[in-house]
Parts: sequence; structure tokens; C-alpha cells
Amino acid sequence: MIIVGGSSSKDLAKELSNALGCAYVQAATTRFPDGECYTRIDNESMNDDVVIVQNTYPDSNLIEMFLLQDAVKKLGAKRMTLVIPYFGYARQDRVFRPGEPESAKVMTKHLGMMCDRVFTVDIHKESILDYFECPHRDLKAAHAIADHFKGKNIDLVLSPDVGAKDRAKAVGERMDVPYDHLEKVRLSGSDVRISPAKMDCVGKNVLIVDDMISTGGTIVAAKQALREAGARSVSVACTHGLFVNNALERLTGNALEAVLCCNTLENEVSHISVAGIISEALGEKW
Ligand code: R5P
Repeated sequence: MIIVGGSSSKDLAKELSNALGCAYVQAATTRFPDGECYTRIDNESMNDDVVIVQNTYPDSNLIEMFLLQDAVKKLGAKRMTLVIPYFGYARQDRVFRPGEPESAKVMTKHLGMMCDRVFTVDIHKESILDYFECPHRDLKAAHAIADHFKGKNIDLVLSPDVGAKDRAKAVGERMDVPYDHLEKVRLSGSDVRISPAKMDCVGKNVLIVDDMISTGGTIVAAKQALREAGARSVSVACTHGLFVNNALERLTGNALEAVLCCNTLENEVSHISVAGIISEALGEKW
């Protein structure tokens, strides 16, 4: 097996090759003066199982992923697996208003044209993977998050909304602490209203888990609700730390340790590695 690291996921790709004891090649990706993507894989041939590790967000990384697939194919890959740690466009999974595209379907259709297998991590809507015609699986970061917080005095695990309650359950059960969910109503793209947990939070060290933090509006409102409900401390962990519009600074001030995310998107607080769950899946027979 050969692991190819795209520019979005170099560290994760290296970790995967170390865990699996296989070759690692880093794609040499640059931009032409007009911004178009140029990439090259400096290998004479790739007559092997090849795994490309690359996000499809932001758009520049999506283009790189398309180009890497073609390069890998031309180098003679026997089978091609895409590991897409953060799958962009998963939120527009249907036509909400007439005239809109089904963005998630467009992406899967095009990404699936050359590859033989796809792994994602905590994709926003798992059902969109069914648009891939090749084998596909969404891997769950819950255990990696739980293992990181085990032994750190967490009394209660909460998801910010009912839609993510299974994540709170998976993390809570693995840590052997109670779990529950908050109730969220979205007021606008960046503002949400959150009602307190049904469980008693007074004096508790609470861990909020979510699939992603984008503007940070959800977490700001959840922290506020938990403070009002008497929580002693609130830690935050998500799989994908997008942190748009300075969300990380807004959430943490100078205390970066207050928010953690997985290394599906590599940034200064992506200290929870999903390499273990991905390498385990890659190591399985197929
Ligand atoms: C919503 O369904 C997701 O699980 C996240 O809670 C949401 O996308 C977070 O977005 P933001 O950080 O902008 O509130």
C-alpha cells in the first residue's frame, strides 16, 4: 500500500503510513500565477493499492483531489482508495428551495468516477455516501474523542442538539459517564438558541461534542446555556474544526485548551488524531 498525502492532510497521511508501515508520498502541489492547481507525484510507478488522503474543502482542495486521482491512475495504481477526512458540501444534501443544486450528490458523483473505495470521517449526512457506486464507509471519531478525555474529570457529555445525540451517547458510553443532549433552534446562519439540558448540570464538568464547529454560534450558545444551568466547567470537542470568521479566537480568547478538534482539518487545536480509526479501516480486507 502507498499513502499519498494531499496538501490538506499531510500530517495525517504521514501518521497513517507510520501506523500501517507502508510507503508515504507527498504530492507536490503548487499554484500557477493565476491560482490554478498544479500537482505532481514524484514516483516512477504506483503499481500497488494507493490511498489518497485529501479533504474536499475548501474548493481548492477539491480540485487537487480530482487532479491527484488522475495522476495516481496514470502511474498505474491497482486500486485507489480515497480517504476524505473532511468531506465538503455534505450539508447541501437535498434541494431545500427550487432552483438549488443537490451539491452533495454532484460531489460524490464526480469524486467517485475514478476511485475504487471511499472512507470519510463523521460526514454530516451519512446517506449521501450512497451516491458513490464503489464501496464506502463513514468512520466515527467518537472513540478517539472519548479516549482523549478519559480520566479528565468529565461528569457529563452533551451534544448541542438532538441530531447529534448518538455522538454524545458513543462518547459517553466509551468514557463511562452519563450523556444527554441540548435543544437547539437555529435563528440565522451564525446565531442559535439553545435550551438547557434535561439533566442536572449544577457543579458538573461538562464536555460538549459536535461533528463540526463552523461559525462557533452553536458552541457559544451552548456554553452560555450551561453556565446559566450551573455547570462548573465546559470543555468542547468536535471532529471538524472549520472555525470560520475567527471562530476559534471568539470561542477561546487566549485559552486554546478550551476547544479541541480532530485532525481531519489540521489547525492549532487539532490534537485528537483519527489516524487510529482510519488505519484500522484501511488495514481491513476488502
Ligand atoms: C449542525 O447540524 C452541526 O452539527 C453543527 O452544530 C453546526 O454546523 C455548527 O455550526 P456553527 O459553529 O456555525 O454553529
